[in-house]
Amino acid sequence: MNDLHTGRTTKDGIRIHNPSDSAGMLAAGQLAASILDEIAEHVFPGQTTGEIDRIIEQKVNDAGATSATIGYKGYQHASCISVNHVVCHGIPSDKKLKDGDILNIDVTVIVDGWFGDTSRMYVAGKLSRKSERLIQVTHDALMLGIEAVKPGNTFGDIGHAIQTFVESHRMAVVTDFCGHGLGRVFHAPPNVLHYGKPGTKAVLEPGMFFTIEPMVNLGRAETKTLSDDWTAVTRDKSLSAQFEHSIGVTEDGFEIFTLSPAGKFHPTY
Ligand code: MF3
Ligand code: CO
Ligand code: CO
Repeated sequence: MNDLHTGRTTKDGIRIHNPSDSAGMLAAGQLAASILDEIAEHVFPGQTTGEIDRIIEQKVNDAGATSATIGYKGYQHASCISVNHVVCHGIPSDKKLKDGDILNIDVTVIVDGWFGDTSRMYVAGKLSRKSERLIQVTHDALMLGIEAVKPGNTFGDIGHAIQTFVESHRMAVVTDFCGHGLGRVFHAPPNVLHYGKPGTKAVLEPGMFFTIEPMVNLGRAETKTLSDDWTAVTRDKSLSAQFEHSIGVTEDGFEIFTLSPAGKFHPTY
């Protein structure tokens, strides 16, 4: 059982999956990503985040899949929808979106026992230059983090790539939330930090599955959680953006399970 691909766990508690397990992750990831593709047309001024969530739940059910978030630690919705200064874990509600609002929609589905977890940014109506800059930097930060994924690199290398890029744009990376291992479970070791030092933390090995999901603020990094115990907001009320992919470490790099089947990521094209 010492082979890299026999489903062992590292000393840091990180599961090493079998090569055949990526097919399950890809099926789950592609469903989550296709739902994010299809939801774009339902985001517009006057729409409620509650209605967006109901459409997502319907799509998950229509696909014969399961929502990972409904019933998770008491959470009751098929998505988290985080508007403007909400950093993450925004609860869908009957509040209407306004022109220029930016929002992250985060969907996690279970297909044949495998978890697909991904999120993207959207805009209701017209995207301001300021919001577009934030969203572009956040997406670029995620992709730079992913490009640091290959056997022999470390989780600290991923965090370092993200943090240095974000800070070079005079924006702040959130340190209160992190990515996570996943697979046949929603949240598993390790904590994938979006900041760090090169060469630190666990060494990446083929068969590790995890998310990278940086949150970036236009103002300061500090967050607080509202009295609903879910909604995390920027303390200084500055705008926040996030993108998330579920990925796997391969023999020579990475595989993104949650790439858009339609090639989409940007809110306006
Ligand atoms: N999808 C989120 C993540 O990226 C977790 C949401 S948990 C919920 O890890 F309960 F808030 F939905
Ligand atoms: Co996640
Ligand atoms: Co997520």
